[in-house]
Amino acid sequence: MKQHHLFAAMALALGLTGCRPQSQSNVAEEAWIGHAKDVAAYQLLSTAADLEDTLVMPRTRWSGYELSFLEQQLGHKVYMDSIHPNPPKELLGKRRLCPIIDWTSGFFPGSLWYAYELTGNDSLKAQAIRFTNRLNPVRKLKGTHDVGFMVYCSYGNALRLAPNDTIKDVLVETADNLYARFNPTIGCIRSWDFGSWNYPVIIDNMMNLELLFKATQLTGDPKYREAALTHARTTLKNHFRPDYTCYHVVSYNNDGTVETKQTHQGKNDESAWSRGQGWAVYGYTLCYKESQDSAFLQQAIHVADMIMRRTTTADCIPYWDFDAPATPETPRDASAAAVIASAFIDLSELAPNGQKYADYAKRILQSLSAPDYLAEKGENEGFILMHSTGSLPHGSEIDTPLNYADYYYLEALRKYLKNK
Ligand code: GLY
Repeated sequence: MKQHHLFAAMALALGLTGCRPQSQSNVAEEAWIGHAKDVAAYQLLSTAADLEDTLVMPRTRWSGYELSFLEQQLGHKVYMDSIHPNPPKELLGKRRLCPIIDWTSGFFPGSLWYAYELTGNDSLKAQAIRFTNRLNPVRKLKGTHDVGFMVYCSYGNALRLAPNDTIKDVLVETADNLYARFNPTIGCIRSWDFGSWNYPVIIDNMMNLELLFKATQLTGDPKYREAALTHARTTLKNHFRPDYTCYHVVSYNNDGTVETKQTHQGKNDESAWSRGQGWAVYGYTLCYKESQDSAFLQQAIHVADMIMRRTTTADCIPYWDFDAPATPETPRDASAAAVIASAFIDLSELAPNGQKYADYAKRILQSLSAPDYLAEKGENEGFILMHSTGSLPHGSEIDTPLNYADYYYLEALRKYLKNK
């Protein structure tokens, strides 16, 4: 991140703080988009070739940490039993793979679909089909809300770009398992089955609603959509603070009252974990598009405005938590930025005075497409973007690529190009 730090230091010296719009000519604009597509296709195809004969997906690069660094970021003492052990030295920087039951397994096939759409390259389509099919057994998973991410990002895109009847069956069977996690007394889908919470619901769960909306479209049965909208209303009521930042985890008692409000991946229970704020603006924009309920639009606008206010970096790529120390050493989260960019492009078309969200999304995309974040071909273990953070409080995936950063980056690029 050397160039990045130099730029940040110059910005501070000039008294410039906060994300700023960048003007570029049309010629330069074509160049950055063309380069981004080129890098994406190269990285994805070489990764797919490497993993063709396996049953796994690429997730990230192994990263490590210093305990003192975690403590400085979190502002409190860290105990070894709350964090993942550092990986063996020989793994550091190497590609980290995951099984198909991992919550991130749908993002690599999804990225292949988006890259195919962006480039028209048939090899990407062939690999997208191959890696999507690998996820077929996920339709049987019942123990997590993440099946929405896993199956919608893969099979959902397959249905758009290469439809066939078997895809519909996978989507509906998975939606049935997600729907089975909805509790009408609580008014929410249960997120996790681990931990000591009574009924944990995380803000990320907003992203899984898209699968339920699709299931209603495919079957004509309104129950999926109704559960999704109830989940969104309950979350709107309980997850947000008066300043429109949100908690990561809200756990409910069986009667629907709130048991506890906490963080899992953020700095502390009262902080604004960056990716969570991204999930929130994405989720409410989606719910408004689906329902035309103005309460969802208002919520998306409030969260979007808060994100723009609270992002203090000159390049618009947030620190891993909005309440993390604003220092050059603080890790960024490119994945949060990519989610925000994708949501903002949609929001720009729905909100009155929406142009500011489109401008902001463009600024994020330009930053992510510059050498500070975009990998060089053949580098970065085949991932497209650098500098995301998975879960700093667990010492996990710090300042490293993440497959979902790549996915939402390509999704946002695609939306950006469609709107031009
Ligand atoms: N859904 C987990 C995450 O955002 O890291």
